[in-house]
Amino acid sequence: MGDLHDRVRQLAAELDGASPLTIIRRALEHHGEHVTLAFSGAEDVLLIEYAKQVGLPFNVFALDTGRLHPETLRFIGEVERHYDIRIQVRFPRAEAVEALVRTKGLFSFYDDGHGECCGIRKVEPLNRHLAGVSGWITGQRRDQSPRTRAAIPAVEVDEAHIGRDGQPVLKWNPVAARSSTEVWDAIRAFEVPHNELHHRGFVSIGCEPCTRSVLPGQHEREGRWWWEDATKKECGLHETNLSSLSGPND
Ligand code: ADX
Ligand code: SF4
Repeated sequence: MGDLHDRVRQLAAELDGASPLTIIRRALEHHGEHVTLAFSGAEDVLLIEYAKQVGLPFNVFALDTGRLHPETLRFIGEVERHYDIRIQVRFPRAEAVEALVRTKGLFSFYDDGHGECCGIRKVEPLNRHLAGVSGWITGQRRDQSPRTRAAIPAVEVDEAHIGRDGQPVLKWNPVAARSSTEVWDAIRAFEVPHNELHHRGFVSIGCEPCTRSVLPGQHEREGRWWWEDATKKECGLHETNLSSLSGPND
C-alpha cells in the first residue's frame, strides 16, 4: 500500500500544472473502462466536454438523491443529448430513505445536520458505484472551499472508497488548480450547455433543500448547508478532504 501512495504522489507531482485535458487523458489511459466521471449537474459539465475532446471512451455517472432541483434533472437529460451519451444515474436504497423519512421526516437535516441524509442519499450509492471501478474523476477545485479543499492534488489515493480489485480507488481532480472564473471562461469558449440555475444566482449546486443562491461577492460555499459551520461542509463524497484538516482554526 505504501508503494501505491508513493507512486500516486509522484504522478500528482508530474501532473501539477498540467491542463485539465492532459489530466483527463492520463486518467482514461490509466484505467481504461474502469474509470468513471462524477457529474453533479453543475459547472463540472466541463469535464464531460474535455473527456469528449480527448476522444477515448468514457463513462459518466450522477447521484440522483431524490432531492435535486428539477432544473438539474432536466440539465442531466440535456447533457446526454448534447454529447450523445447515457449518464448512469444512481439512486439511494428505497428502504433506507423510507426508514429515515418515517422516523425523522423529510427535513431532518435542518435539525440534526446533513450527515445522516447525505449518508443515505449520496454516500452509500457512491460507495456502491465506486466498488465497480478503479478510479473516478471529479470536478472538485481548491477554490471551492478554502477550508477543506485547498490542498487537492491532480490525483490522489481515495482511502474512503474500495474499488473493483479490493484496493482504494484513485481520485482524479483535473480542475483542482483551476479557478471558478477559468472554468466558466472555458464553458463559454467551448459553448458547453449549463444548468439554468446558474442564471439565477446559484453557483455551487447540490440538493434543492440544501442549496441557495449567493449574493455578489459571497463565497459559493455559503450557498450550501448554510445553517452549518464551514468545517462540516463536506457531505461524505469527498471524505478524504476532511482527514487533511489539522485543527479547528486553520
Ligand atoms: S459536495 O460534496 O459538496 O456535494 P460539490 O457539489 O462541491 O460536492 O461537487 C464536487 C464534485 O463532486 C463534483 O464536480 C462531482 O464530481 C462530485 N459530485 C457532487 N455531487 C454529485 C452528484 N450528485 N453526482 C455525482 N457526482 C457528484
Ligand atoms: Fe439530504 Fe441535503 Fe444531503 Fe441532499 S444535500 S442528501 S437533501 S442532507
